[in-house]
Amino acid sequence: MNGETWKQKDRQYIAGTYGRFNVCLAEGKNATCIDVDGKKYIDFGSGIGVNSLGYCDAGWVTAVTKQLGRLQHCSNLYYSTPDIELAHRLCGLTGYDKVFFANSGAEANECAIKAARKYSFDRYGGKRNKIITLVNSFHGRTVTTLSATGQDVFHQYFFPFTEGFEFVKANDMDALTAMLDDSVCGIMMELIQGEGGVVPLEREFVAGVAELCREKDVALIVDEVQTGVGRTGKLLACEHYGIRPDIVTLAKGLGGGLPIGAVLFREDYAKVMGTGTHGSTFGGNPVVCAGALEVLNRVADSDFLAEVEKKGIYIRDKLAGIKEIDGVDGLGLMLGVRLKTKQAADAAKACVANGLLILTAKTKLRLLPPLTITKEEIDQGIAVLADVLK
Ligand SMILES: Cc1ncc(COP(=O)(O)O)c(C=O)c1O
Repeated sequence: MNGETWKQKDRQYIAGTYGRFNVCLAEGKNATCIDVDGKKYIDFGSGIGVNSLGYCDAGWVTAVTKQLGRLQHCSNLYYSTPDIELAHRLCGLTGYDKVFFANSGAEANECAIKAARKYSFDRYGGKRNKIITLVNSFHGRTVTTLSATGQDVFHQYFFPFTEGFEFVKANDMDALTAMLDDSVCGIMMELIQGEGGVVPLEREFVAGVAELCREKDVALIVDEVQTGVGRTGKLLACEHYGIRPDIVTLAKGLGGGLPIGAVLFREDYAKVMGTGTHGSTFGGNPVVCAGALEVLNRVADSDFLAEVEKKGIYIRDKLAGIKEIDGVDGLGLMLGVRLKTKQAADAAKACVANGLLILTAKTKLRLLPPLTITKEEIDQGIAVLADVLK
């Protein structure tokens, strides 16, 4: 079957919730992939920030397949070793005390929201249950994480939404302080708003929020689903901001291509999530965790992280030479490209037609390439982009 036939079948049998680009992928290696008709693409998106070690990295494939041949699933009623090893490594590298494993970013955020509410319930009673999030944020597609997402466009059709979320403009410390009354148990935010357009928060605001949360014993939840696991050139984007939240959520790049979500807890928050408070049939899957451990071991290396930073600078330098580009936002290999005259969606479509997979976020082109992307792959991708933006 050729690409057109596959696409027709997709439209016939798969629920039409996704607006897909006109490409049907078959295989890949690092940041290069091939569609079912044999056409080659450079992937500047790594899925959407998922294939952190690129397509089919040899070490990751070995870790996953080795585990696949031993034990593919183990109920959370029993102990198994890959999730323990991964949690041990995550805690060792980040300084957090305990981990809960979920299957996606939204699920990780659901768990974080529950933990913030449970902590507050245990200490202060049920009336202290609101969570403040930021305007223009994105936290997931479940009903509760949609409710937490600070964009009106996501608050349609699916009523009733979960109660207890309020939104404040990013970097507006006065508004946040005014909103933080005795009904608030948590503040949740991305440090670089990803889906919102690759918008980094201001340092003083983030420091102020962290300080306020500490003062009021309000949970600081940082959603690092997109920014975490080396994406910004540090293991956690929190390190750029010098903060230590109570709870950090991870997903996307942690699994290297298999579904995972992880919630990192400071001890006080881990403690309130006792037996029966939360769970997941698939959470902590041994195959997924074996792959994630390989990702983590590779990404946490300081030389690897330095390379991510260097590649980010290399890409920025190259982009600076393209006239149509107005500027670049973001950190490390999480980049938002502002265009002067063209629409990002049109440019992305033209890039795909010419062999470059690239994402958009609001009005910007968005780059989340594999952290392992080579200089040659960057050059090839930028050449397509430069051509499209001529
Ligand atoms: C910051 C952030 N949080 C949460 C999510 C939701 O993750 P998932 O799609 O894995 O549920 C995303 C997905 O784009 C995200 O960027």
